[in-house]
Amino acid sequence: MTVVDVGPVDDFPDRTMKLVEANGVEIGVCRWGSEIFALRSQCPHQAAPLCHGFLQTALSSRFTPDGVEVDAHAEEPVILCPWHRWEFSLRSGTSFWPGYRARTYPVDVAGGRVLIQLRRA
Ligand code: FES
Repeated sequence: MTVVDVGPVDDFPDRTMKLVEANGVEIGVCRWGSEIFALRSQCPHQAAPLCHGFLQTALSSRFTPDGVEVDAHAEEPVILCPWHRWEFSLRSGTSFWPGYRARTYPVDVAGGRVLIQLRRA
């Protein structure tokens, strides 16, 4: 495993996707409250630059006798792909569509620095 230092934690504003390059791979890094997520900026659908998409909280909806209720899950950030708007969890890389999962990386903070753990291919 390779650990890459991508900078001081203060360089990552809350709820903002920042693009970094680590070992030739573009990775989106996002601080979300007390957590930091990292995922490869390549959509598993058709290889769009995923982390150039739209950051938001996960939404869920359900039918009720009065119509449709929509809930926002503030603790679950997602990125919407810029090409077809598929939604991917920053936490797990999963999407609504089975078999399509963005690659995520473990992140640590040590000494005020953001460290991404890259797995060997
Ligand atoms: S390329 Fe990302 S959803 Fe199609």
